[in-house]
Amino acid sequence: MAEKIVILTGAGISAESGLGTFRDEGGLWAQHRIEDVATPEGFAKDPALVHRFYNMRRAEAAKAQPNAAHLALARLQREFSGEVVIVTQNVDALHEAAGAEVIHMHGALASALCAACGHRWGAPLVMAPGEPCPACGAGAGRPDIVWFGEMPYFMEQIEDHLLGCDLFAAIGTSGQVYPAAGFVQQARYAGARTIEMNLRDSDSSHAFEDHLIGPASKVVPSWVETLL
Ligand code: APR
Repeated sequence: MAEKIVILTGAGISAESGLGTFRDEGGLWAQHRIEDVATPEGFAKDPALVHRFYNMRRAEAAKAQPNAAHLALARLQREFSGEVVIVTQNVDALHEAAGAEVIHMHGALASALCAACGHRWGAPLVMAPGEPCPACGAGAGRPDIVWFGEMPYFMEQIEDHLLGCDLFAAIGTSGQVYPAAGFVQQARYAGARTIEMNLRDSDSSHAFEDHLIGPASKVVPSWVETLL
């Protein structure tokens, strides 16, 4: 029986809540160039474009509801006899809306960051270039999102969790972006069993011992049932 479970979620867990994924057919990276909207260089070049991109995603996230997969993970965290750590690559707040505690390794739409002093505050629905920082007053507010080329958040804490877990699950992620795509190897190194839940094979499927293929809203609740 597992004592400590670490779960990594990706955009696929929020797909059935109506939020776009990145690399599926017609996904966000088919509609926008990563270098324009998800890099520090893109923000420096055209902050208005980047703010518009995240304002659109904030507006969509505000309309979305957690689905059965988010709710099942929150139930697992509440009812499981051991520890359940949820690490998400997602920037929506659907895990929290379902009642779960989560580590946002790529930041959050609900948070704003001051590029001048590092202060964080609750992001307004709409941000614009020159967004004033409530702490230092500089017009250096930016989305509190980890862009390509920037260091994901909470990595030391996440690595400690991976080294101490005996079950690692990845849900709704294509396994194409590191360091998250490497978590399964770290978990295996720590002796954990590994399971992947996805609509289809991902780039890191080979590294997982078990696979549950199907929509997260179906496979995650039934997986949680087997653990409670
Ligand atoms: N149920 C389960 N899995 C699904 C569903 C669903 N209903 N719909 C899509 N998926 C799966 C896809 O098969 C794919 O493997 O979700 C995955 C989505 O992959 P990506 O779009 O690449 O999203 P993700 O893996 O979260 O991207 C990682 O890349 O662009 C960066 O920072 C961004 O956090 C993001 C990171």
